[in-house]
Amino acid sequence: MRKPVIAGNWKMNMTCTEAIEYMRVLIPLLNDIPKKDREVVIAPPFTALYPLSEFIRGKNDYLSLSSQNVHWEDSGAYTAEVSPLMLNELSVKCAIVGHSEPRKYFSESDEQINKRAKSAQDHQLIPIVCVGETFQQREMGEAERVIRRQIEQGLEGIEVKKLIVAYEPIWAIGTGKTCEANEANRICGLIRKWIGYEDVIIQYGGSVKSNNIDEIMSMSDIDGVLVGGASLDPTNFARIANYEKI
Ligand code: PGA
Repeated sequence: MRKPVIAGNWKMNMTCTEAIEYMRVLIPLLNDIPKKDREVVIAPPFTALYPLSEFIRGKNDYLSLSSQNVHWEDSGAYTAEVSPLMLNELSVKCAIVGHSEPRKYFSESDEQINKRAKSAQDHQLIPIVCVGETFQQREMGEAERVIRRQIEQGLEGIEVKKLIVAYEPIWAIGTGKTCEANEANRICGLIRKWIGYEDVIIQYGGSVKSNNIDEIMSMSDIDGVLVGGASLDPTNFARIANYEKI
């Protein structure tokens, strides 16, 4: 039984004050979600993890925090990075790794992503490993080959029972162009087959909105979503977390 995970990735948005204000609005709007059937995760910027962890502590058991990255060393001379131990102290549950933005802007490789994912698991954090093809790769018929490579290299040696994979076609991120639900489902099915573990949680990400969430969550191989832009408004994000299968 796969429990869907609805995750909001705030990227480089929200000060600590704004983050707390957001939670004050969000939490009451989640009162009625079927909490046994789904989990909600918020990935704020690093600076907001501490105040949010204090704010939500003891309030619920379905809402948790994710970091937007994690380093493979526990400490050391790694300017601008965050250690898994720092995240453990704040009761962070997940760590996004391999998002297309650090892959693109900071040339993150599959090897580094693999080290980050392993470090997360070694410290009881669930890695949310992002994979996905560019528009050009899709046009050239290379999407499957690219994603398979990202899966094989990025997940080498990873414990598949403590893992979330997010299929995020890069051309659909922040563009308003959602991948057609059937096609996203097909790719998620392939990823499940390549991983070889039926119960692995596979999210879809890329222009998920309140008006397409119900269709996306009705797909057989999609077990949740990773939401960027539409997670920045708590009312919108609450509607996404309150999805209904159609
Ligand atoms: P988007 O971003 O929802 O704004 O397209 C998704 C993501 O980057 O995870």
